[in-house]
Amino acid sequence: MFLVEAEALIIYKRSVKVVAMDKMVIEGGKRLAGEIRISGAKNAALPVLASSLLVDGWNVFHNVPDLQDVKTILKLLSGFGVKSEIGETLRINAGAITGCEASYDLVRKMRASILVLGPLVAKTGEARVSLPGGCAIGARPVNLHIKALRDLGAEVRLRDGYIEAKASRLKGATIYFDISTVTGTENIMMAATLAEGTTVLKNAAREPEIVNLADVLQKMGAKISGAGSDVITIEGVKSLHPAEASVIPDRIEAGTFMIAAGMTGGDVRLLGCDPSHLEALTAKLRETGMEITVEGDSLRAVGRPRITSVDIKTMPYPGFPTDLQAQIMAMMAISAGLSVITETVFENRFMHVSELIRLGADIVIEGNSAAVRGVPKLCGAPVMATDLRASASLILAGLAAEGTTTLSRVYHIDRGYQRIEEKLSSLGASIRRVSG
Ligand code: EPZ
Repeated sequence: MFLVEAEALIIYKRSVKVVAMDKMVIEGGKRLAGEIRISGAKNAALPVLASSLLVDGWNVFHNVPDLQDVKTILKLLSGFGVKSEIGETLRINAGAITGCEASYDLVRKMRASILVLGPLVAKTGEARVSLPGGCAIGARPVNLHIKALRDLGAEVRLRDGYIEAKASRLKGATIYFDISTVTGTENIMMAATLAEGTTVLKNAAREPEIVNLADVLQKMGAKISGAGSDVITIEGVKSLHPAEASVIPDRIEAGTFMIAAGMTGGDVRLLGCDPSHLEALTAKLRETGMEITVEGDSLRAVGRPRITSVDIKTMPYPGFPTDLQAQIMAMMAISAGLSVITETVFENRFMHVSELIRLGADIVIEGNSAAVRGVPKLCGAPVMATDLRASASLILAGLAAEGTTTLSRVYHIDRGYQRIEEKLSSLGASIRRVSG
């Protein structure tokens, strides 16, 4: 926890608007009702922005969310000489790359910075990217990214905490991922677009964000087939050209609000989402007794007074998303019965449990499973965010709790949710951001 406090203090010293010390104050017990528009997906926008490194000229991307992580990757890219203009759309141009180093200072703030590694090596022939270091939810090594880059013929060394990669031109290869890694699949798919010959990715991740990235790369002239399945084939080309494309809606933001509706007995319509990306969650929420109806690109989530407890096991897509595990645990904390939640993707993604217990939840952790015995009500209290999705879980719990919940270290939530307090307030929640 010391490291995180140091981070908060560093931000404190550097920024006039002391974001790090902001808190959220939530008065629980309000029923959510109304409609909100879902923003673009953080986990689609980050690889799409990294893909701009592959082409010379102005790309135009629509539906890029206004998030801290997007600001961070744009800052990282600007360090390589990449220009960007944010307006209704985001325009970005890597036509004059002046550098290839991603510093520890930036990479440690956002692990997704690793996504510049593949495109930089493919486009410029070299890259020096800091190893990400530790993370609250798990070790999260990048060994599979490194192995796959070597499979494509790059010379990769680890020195002084950095990944140093060089290749005159990458060569297509058949690559087998020991684990279906999302950013690993994205990194290597991008690198392979400019390799000589054919690359086949086996045991590739199948997330919708990968399909979105493949669509963008194809608009740039890449030859990719199989994205969304566990075998992706990329025919290397000599060069790519700028594209205009859209970022898909954020399925994790949408899922978070669906759960909020369930926890407050609410009736919420989500506009501009893609219900087909939420089938695992939708099935589970129907099991709890919620009524979920799909209406084109919107989805209506209606809570019921009594929440039936259900068991959850997180899996790679299309299984139940690990990024919604903390949120549905908050829901199970007020369900009628016992719910066993098993986290199979990350080895330490229960940091929210001790904070939920502070709010009155009855949870026992056993290995990678948590037994959640529903309680009639949670009681508001001061709690602390430890990571992005844990923050969301604690906000949801605060919405359902009796009394006041104060969530500190709000900078975690700003990484992945666009003005969450405004969207929740528009649905009737009593939530406000306070500084200091
Ligand atoms: C992506 O992270 C997401 N981030 C995560 O979302 C998400 O939780 C995760 O995929 C799983 O769905 C982005 O897309 C930016 P992985 P990623 O590589 O790619 C192990 C959020 O809250 N692994 O699919 O880093 C790894 O430790 C974030 O928005 C290796 O062992 O996840 C994990 O156990 C959190 N070696 C498993 O694979 C490697 O080289 C899956 O990780 C790479 C991964």
